[in-house]
Amino acid sequence: MKFFLDTANIDEIRTAYALGVIDGVTTNPSLVAKENVSFHDRLKEITAIVSGSVSAEVISLDAEGMLREGRELAAIAPNITIKVPMTAEGLKAVSAFSKEGIRTNVTLVFSANQALLAARAGATYVSPFLGRLDDIGHNGLDLISDIAEIFALHDIETEIIAASIRHPVHVTEAAKRGAHIATVPYKVLMQMIKHPLTDIGIERFLADWEKAKK
Ligand code: E4P
Repeated sequence: MKFFLDTANIDEIRTAYALGVIDGVTTNPSLVAKENVSFHDRLKEITAIVSGSVSAEVISLDAEGMLREGRELAAIAPNITIKVPMTAEGLKAVSAFSKEGIRTNVTLVFSANQALLAARAGATYVSPFLGRLDDIGHNGLDLISDIAEIFALHDIETEIIAASIRHPVHVTEAAKRGAHIATVPYKVLMQMIKHPLTDIGIERFLADWEKAKK
């Protein structure tokens, strides 16, 4: 499973990218709004650092508007992926983008049928939202299993991005259940690196090394 970073913060992207484990970035209007910068300028900055897929979301609700916005965003850099909401208008836009060779990430996916339709429309990625399903008492991870099983059964090439990840267990489970990518917030990425036994182990090795020198 690959990792994307779920943020529009340039410092987080720079720090995480330097680790060599990040293959792309996902943004959404809420993440961009937190940054207080021009969306286009921020996308230019991100694509100057990240060579893999950088998802940029459209905010229009009609297919025509989505296509206009998406084409503008896609012109910023060749690795921009257009993030489109899972609606009837969104499907129309995805199908048109797909014919134009523009990559898409269908977002706000909460059911296997939505994922199937998005794939059929030609989506490059689908983003099932784990955390938001858990928030309403559903099991977000079961959705990953269902989509992965269906996509494998029908040889569907659309990749599954486990999104709305809230903690490291979501990441492990999404990997076990067949997500191709997990888009992780910076905080979760940092949590994944750490283990108390690793810290204790380093401390002990250094203490023993010091003792041996005496
Ligand atoms: C990424 O593509 C999604 O927009 C993001 O993971 C949503 O996360 P949230 O549910 O924590 O806002």
